[in-house]
Amino acid sequence: MVIFLVGFMGCGKSTVARGLAEIAGWDFVDLDRVVCQRAGAEDVAEIFARSGEEEFRRLEREVIESLAFAENAVVATGGGAPCVGDNMERLMALGTTVYLKMSPLALRDRLLHVRVVRPKIVGKNPEELLDYVTSLLAEREPYYSQARVVVDCDGIPSRVVISRLRYLVGRRG
Ligand code: S3P
Repeated sequence: MVIFLVGFMGCGKSTVARGLAEIAGWDFVDLDRVVCQRAGAEDVAEIFARSGEEEFRRLEREVIESLAFAENAVVATGGGAPCVGDNMERLMALGTTVYLKMSPLALRDRLLHVRVVRPKIVGKNPEELLDYVTSLLAEREPYYSQARVVVDCDGIPSRVVISRLRYLVGRRG
């Protein structure tokens, strides 16, 4: 069984996936990390700078396909992963998809406070970032919202989100 967490950059996919995997005793997979390993890159920004977003998306799809063989894993996908080609359909065929839903404002505020370099938002001031998140989220929402489970995460600490999702890995709350 594989659980795929989907949602916008900054919604907490990695933290929630790690927490859920720990509770379940399952593997935690960070899709971006695996893509970087495959590319021999330090981080996502390096792949974008070296080979462009298209190459990053090609590798991302390859890694999604490789997860067809995974067993008992919780996967944090990258924010754009479900929104390219038929990736969302593929994720839904391979496992249980969960959308960590957050408003543009909450996402913007979280993105302002993280240190990870995200090539798609680098260099934007708070106002530009809010505009960007609002419009990109509107484009992506139709993909994310196809997920089998949708969790409203605005103002909810990750540990509470994790606890709400425990049932998916057969653990009582
Ligand atoms: C991206 C999100 C990132 C990473 C890449 C592109 C996106 O993952 O895959 O920088 O297009 O939203 P996170 O959602 O983990 O930041």
